[in-house]
Amino acid sequence: MSATETMTETVPPTVCLGQPDIFYHPDEAKFRARTARRLVEDPTLPQRPLPAGFPPSVDGPIVWEGKDWTDESQWVFNLTDEHLAEIDIALAHFESLDKPLGFISRETFPLPTLSAELWKLAEVLYSGRGFFVLREIPIDKYSRRELAIVYAGLSSHVGSERGRQDGTNAVLAHIKDLRVSHAHEKGGIGNAAYTTDKQVFHTDIGDLIALLSIQTSAHGGVSRLSSSGRVYNEIAKTRPDLITVMKDNWPLDRFGGNPAYAERPVLYNEDGHIVIQYSRRHFTGYGTQVRSANIPPISEAQAEALDMLHFYAEKYSLALNFKKGDIQYINSMGLLHARDAFVDEGEKTRHLVRLWLRNDELAWKTPKPLEASWQKLYSVAPETQRFPLEPEIRRLATGASK
Ligand SMILES: [Fe+2]
Repeated sequence: MSATETMTETVPPTVCLGQPDIFYHPDEAKFRARTARRLVEDPTLPQRPLPAGFPPSVDGPIVWEGKDWTDESQWVFNLTDEHLAEIDIALAHFESLDKPLGFISRETFPLPTLSAELWKLAEVLYSGRGFFVLREIPIDKYSRRELAIVYAGLSSHVGSERGRQDGTNAVLAHIKDLRVSHAHEKGGIGNAAYTTDKQVFHTDIGDLIALLSIQTSAHGGVSRLSSSGRVYNEIAKTRPDLITVMKDNWPLDRFGGNPAYAERPVLYNEDGHIVIQYSRRHFTGYGTQVRSANIPPISEAQAEALDMLHFYAEKYSLALNFKKGDIQYINSMGLLHARDAFVDEGEKTRHLVRLWLRNDELAWKTPKPLEASWQKLYSVAPETQRFPLEPEIRRLATGASK
């Protein structure tokens, strides 16, 4: 039996009553038809005023379009032989302390000259374009444990707070096709991250995302970034009514959690920063995680906004190719991201390792409705941080897959 058949068999037969005709993979024809239908019902929608506190447009270094970037030298920081030597000395120093990996920090992983460079790059995340790539970590030189120390050590100079990836205090997450290796998982796979499938535009929870490429795929898997401010400007100009929809509460599926769903906006204007924070699967389900039957459906307006977010993000996106040994850092408060479908062959098996980070000194103000989640995310004590060295499915504290 193939992994796909396993997934299909475990899909519960229930659907969320009243849910619009919308699924994880955006369908442009359905989107256009929904927009046309809604404008026939109410032609005044595009003339509605913007909600209070939301400007007609925003600008600044983090508001850009893919075509604004012409060459990867604009965002790639190349590590020199001197930097790599500093990293090896820091690794030996941390090992000499004989501490659990949760104690990796700027202090325990000192980088005499590289630290200042990484701080400048952290400023680029929060006050500049919102992304950069560090190239390249000599992956094959290190054991998996050494690699975890090097990766977390370098990253602690970008953002010292590490976020928990799941309910078991894992702070590293492996992004890899796990459909065959983890086919025995009880809950199946409910997240495109653990497949070769396209991941549509979304944000992760938290401030910063780091992705280390341990191995690349044989084909595809292009990473795409898009400016939330640029997407905001387009929606504010063409459909201000949907800005109102986005800044109001949405019912997020917690897929069997307690409570069964959460309510919060997907758009915030906090302290002068436009923040879009959402993952499409929380409104449409994915794979074995179909939208729960016992929670409110999203509205037709929310379905339209969800598609509009995706298609404008795609239109204005920048494509980046991962090289083995790259670390991509993203400001997830100001940028949306996606990845294309890919094909693995033999050794060429796409494998990324993710950290969620925050730099307390440089961070944007967290919007109030997100504060509790952020606090939970960044509250994992050093002695309890787990660094899984091999891929695993993220779990809730109850043990259920997430
Ligand atoms: Fe993501």
